[in-house]
Amino acid sequence: MKTALVINGPNLNLLGSREPAVYGAQTLADVQQLCERTCAANGLKLDFRQSNHEGELVDWIHEAGRLQTAGQLAGVILNAGAYTHTSVALHDAIKGTGVTLIELHISNVHAREAFRHHSYISAVAKAVMAGFGVNGYALAIAGLAQLSS
Ligand code: DQA
Repeated sequence: MKTALVINGPNLNLLGSREPAVYGAQTLADVQQLCERTCAANGLKLDFRQSNHEGELVDWIHEAGRLQTAGQLAGVILNAGAYTHTSVALHDAIKGTGVTLIELHISNVHAREAFRHHSYISAVAKAVMAGFGVNGYALAIAGLAQLSS
C-alpha cells in the first residue's frame, strides 16, 4: 500500500481559530481525521504533517522524492500556506525531486488579495485544488489515488 504525504505549511496549526470565515471551523486534527478516512477508502496510507518552517518543508519534499523513487509514495498534497506566494526554495525542491505533488488551498486564493494570486508551486505541481474548504483535502486524496493507480 502506497503512502499519501499531506504537508501543511505555516499557520495551518491555527485552523479552527484562524479567520474562520475564510478557513472554516474545523481544526487541523479534524482535517487529519478526514484525510485518514479518505486514505483508507482509497487504498492509501496517510502521513500527515505540519510545519511553520520553510527549510523543514523543503526537507520533507526531498524525503518524499526518495520515497516515491523507492515505490513507496503515491505523492504529496501540499498546502504551503503563505510560502506558496514566496518560496523559490519549495519550487526548486519540487522540481529537483520530480515528486508528484498536488497544490492545495482551503480558500479560493484567486478571489482574495492580489498577493495571493501568484504561486511558486503551481508551475511544478501536477494539479491545483483551491476553494473547496477543508473538503479539498479529501478531493485531492481521491485524485492522487487515481493518478497513482
Ligand atoms: C492558504 C491560502 C494562503 O494564501 C494563505 O497564506 C494560507 C492558507 C489556503 O489554504 O487557503 O495560509 O494556503
